[in-house]
Amino acid sequence: MSLIEVQDLAVYYPLRAGFWNRIVDTVQAVDGISFQIESGESFGLVGESGSGKSTTGKTIVGLETATRGQILYQGQAVTQAKQRRQLNYNREVQMIFQDSLSSLNPQKRIGEIIAEPLRNFSQLSQEEEKLRVLQLLETVGLSATALYKYPHQFSGGQRQRIGIARAVATHPKLIIADEPVSALDLSVQAQVLNFMKKIQQELQISYLFISHDLGVVRHMCQKIGIMHRGRLVEVGTREDIYQHPQHIYTQRLLAAIPEINVAQRAAQQERRRKIERIYQEQQAQYYDPEGRAFDLQPLTSTHWVALPTTKIQQLGN
Ligand SMILES: Nc1ncnc2c1ncn2[C@@H]1O[C@H](COP(=O)(O)OP(=O)(O)OP(=O)(O)O)[C@@H](O)[C@H]1O
Ligand SMILES: [Mg+2]
Repeated sequence: MSLIEVQDLAVYYPLRAGFWNRIVDTVQAVDGISFQIESGESFGLVGESGSGKSTTGKTIVGLETATRGQILYQGQAVTQAKQRRQLNYNREVQMIFQDSLSSLNPQKRIGEIIAEPLRNFSQLSQEEEKLRVLQLLETVGLSATALYKYPHQFSGGQRQRIGIARAVATHPKLIIADEPVSALDLSVQAQVLNFMKKIQQELQISYLFISHDLGVVRHMCQKIGIMHRGRLVEVGTREDIYQHPQHIYTQRLLAAIPEINVAQRAAQQERRRKIERIYQEQQAQYYDPEGRAFDLQPLTSTHWVALPTTKIQQLGN
């Protein structure tokens, strides 16, 4: 049984306008996606801005409401708030955000910020609580002096680690990390990512790792889902996605990764142009007349692609 299973999830936002604030339209931020995350695994969700990644993450933790579909946690539905409460879900599934300066309360000291989830979810004495907070600070590589400081007194990378300490305080089984390193310098990014990997092994956590950066996801995730306009266009192992991408949109994202090797740059430019041409000319093979990606179909036991059945058969031959 998967740790988490998302089944045909759709999230539509009402778009309001005018003096009466009437609903004039809906934004189909997520439009029918399915995937699973196994225990201890990292699942990367990748896609361009506005493709519905954050909405997916927020709906899984319960910050947004599903318009359609189901979320199962260890086989049990957690789509409704009542179900989440009964299953300890709010304790076991935590989220960390891109911008820790706005997600950490600026008026509270670090000690209190980290103690907050402990107070909500466990009954510890003051002594025990302080010990646990100190232990958490140590886990994320910060000293005890951090206890009495405020968020603005830390660097971006340190703040991200404080966010992680708060998220792991309640022994979560799943952490949803929404662009956790996008706001950081490259050198600090690597530090925080390696640190996230380390605590994953120590604490047996699964990640839903949200990023627009295919390089970061390759470093972090065994399984990857590629999102485009609220739909999943391809899901597979790291190897499936990076070595054998089948959807034109995945190929396009991969071709956009900057080439470090100077000798390879011309070849990459050429590849980019070719993919761009296919993308422009062969839309109908990859999207339905409304521009919606097709349903995912299995290509192998691990690799799924959003293509019409006829095209899948061609690929199989
Ligand atoms: N609260 C909201 N109300 C209305 N529309 C929203 C809301 N939140 C997101 N959207 C819209 O839903 C779509 C998906 O947004 P989402 O934030 O999930 O994308 P994303 O993939 O996380 O993008 P980014 O990489 O820029 O963070 C976008 O078109 C966005 O404008
Ligand atoms: Mg986002």
